[in-house]
Amino acid sequence: TGMTTLDPGFGNTASCSSKITYIDGAAGILRYRGYPIEDLAVHSTFLETAYLVIYGELPEPGQLKEFSEKLRDNADIPAEMGAFIDAMPRNGHPMALIASAVNTLAAYYDDSVDPDDEDQVELATIRLMAKLPTIAARIYRNSIGETPIEPDAALDYVDNFIRMTFGDKAPTGELGELFNKAVGMLLVLHADHELNCSTATVRVVGSSKADIYASVASGVNALSGPSHGGANQAVLEMLEEIRDSGISIEDFLEKVKAREMRLMGFGHRVYKNFDPRSKEIKVLASQILDSHDNPDELFALALKLEAAALQDSYFTERKLYPNVDFYTGVIYRTMGFPSNMFTVLFAIGRLPGWVAHYREQLHDPAFRIARPRQHYVGSDERRYPGQG
Ligand code: CMC
Repeated sequence: TGMTTLDPGFGNTASCSSKITYIDGAAGILRYRGYPIEDLAVHSTFLETAYLVIYGELPEPGQLKEFSEKLRDNADIPAEMGAFIDAMPRNGHPMALIASAVNTLAAYYDDSVDPDDEDQVELATIRLMAKLPTIAARIYRNSIGETPIEPDAALDYVDNFIRMTFGDKAPTGELGELFNKAVGMLLVLHADHELNCSTATVRVVGSSKADIYASVASGVNALSGPSHGGANQAVLEMLEEIRDSGISIEDFLEKVKAREMRLMGFGHRVYKNFDPRSKEIKVLASQILDSHDNPDELFALALKLEAAALQDSYFTERKLYPNVDFYTGVIYRTMGFPSNMFTVLFAIGRLPGWVAHYREQLHDPAFRIARPRQHYVGSDERRYPGQG
């Protein structure tokens, strides 16, 4: 083991070859299957992008129709599973509940758990994509004490999720369209991001030949942490704390620089000039907020905080810029999602990526169990008491 290289956090270790997502961190480039994120964000839909990420090519119209129909046909969950979800603590964090629910899919659908059977993996892919929004919406409805809303086969993927979440309170007309477009675009922007912590987790778990449901549930858990997907919730809580405490932005940044806390929504392992997703999201945030009558104080605060940090050498020297999570929370909040649902939206968006990586890995000629080495720094051999 003296030959192994110590690489904490895998900052310099490539653990696989992949054809799914290309990132150039210095240039701020992100492409799914070769297509620039800027084009997909504006011209694609979430389902089309999900298909692209999972199957490798943009779908022909007939293929997209078939994919979409399969998702509609599989959107419901068994009654027993609904009862199981309803029995979980209703005020528990939705990420904990969703991870548990996804894990149990393997038990409800044990005809699709064999990684060596391509048809089963495909069936599980459809079931995961189809059912995650249903599960997420049910958990949300439970948390606010409202009855769950069944999926509606007449609605498209994003509309259906919004409808199952907000019911009659979902915005209609022009605002409804903007709302749908915005959620769709945010999901597209989250669809994959190569070997981020949760996707790496899905691969590691899948490398033991664990089934796709177990692997994706592990991805949900990895995503929940505030350094990763949980950052979108943490950003909003940070903004609220700044507002409520009355602390000045300068004083807040001093605390960050003194390492009392991190500036949430800033920094990225790979992007060192800007995060191309955050550029798109900032534009979207202004659009969404313009559509509402009341100017959003937290958005204004976020803009000021970003500007102040970008002028401060602590942040510029370390190449810390706003990441994908900096403005999403402000948008979701304006749409009426409570902050503990923000990371759930990230999970719905990232699901195609998790599934695509799990599937790609199964066909990798270099496939083998993930098993890193360590540098041992503990005690030398010692004698058990009384043994000499
Ligand atoms: N606020 C203050 N200082 C920071 C921050 C931050 N947000 N991020 C990094 N730094 C400093 C860090 O203290 C270190 O300084 P020094 O060299 O003086 O010790 C330097 O920048 C490098 O940081 P690092 O911890 O080695 O960077 P990393 O690549 O290991 O961490 C990160 C990446 C995203 C976990 C980190 O930037 C962070 O904690 N950001 C806040 C949480 C966040 O927004 N996460 C979302 C990430 S993007 C999408 C996603 O994955 O969900």
